[in-house]
Amino acid sequence: MGFTEKQEGLVKESWEVLKQDIPHFSLRFFSLILEIAPGAKNMFSFLRESEEIPQNNPKLKAHAVKVFKMTCESAIQLREKGEVVVADTTLKYLGTVHVKSGVKDPHFEVVKEALIRTIEEAIGEEKWNEEMKNAWGEAYDQLAEAIKAEMKNHH
Ligand code: HEM
Repeated sequence: MGFTEKQEGLVKESWEVLKQDIPHFSLRFFSLILEIAPGAKNMFSFLRESEEIPQNNPKLKAHAVKVFKMTCESAIQLREKGEVVVADTTLKYLGTVHVKSGVKDPHFEVVKEALIRTIEEAIGEEKWNEEMKNAWGEAYDQLAEAIKAEMKNHH
């Protein structure tokens, strides 16, 4: 089953909601990552340096926004082309950055869970549903697979 126009719409629609308050949702996203996997703290340069999660840190926001935005782009590509294609240079960079930071395959599940829960909170109980969850999940999984495959070339 391909990615449908409806699924793409659900992802785009919820991204519009997240965009309304990037500082808040970025912070929430990282809090959830550390709640699920406290050990992840030491991988992020901007988290290693302080006891608490820094408010308004540009690097923290950059990572959160990259994950959200690239997942969104994946959804669009899945619908248009049936697969996720990340530009070669971007993918090489992502492979290097993550291997260097000590990221391992299971971390992608942690980030997925945090991503889904952040969106759920942003959308609110009334509008949130399984379809939305699955659309984000599928778009994220395909992107994560591409990054993980690239990471194998950087050992
Ligand atoms: C860095 C994207 C998943 C940990 C980065 C950068 C990008 C990125 C673009 C470079 C940031 C920059 O140079 O501004 C993504 C995407 C992901 C993903 C799209 C999933 C689809 C993960 C996961 C982890 C992780 C699962 C581990 C929990 C890191 C770390 C850095 C990084 C530690 C270095 C940040 C720093 O210390 O400044 N990521 N990432 N990422 N990513 Fe990810």
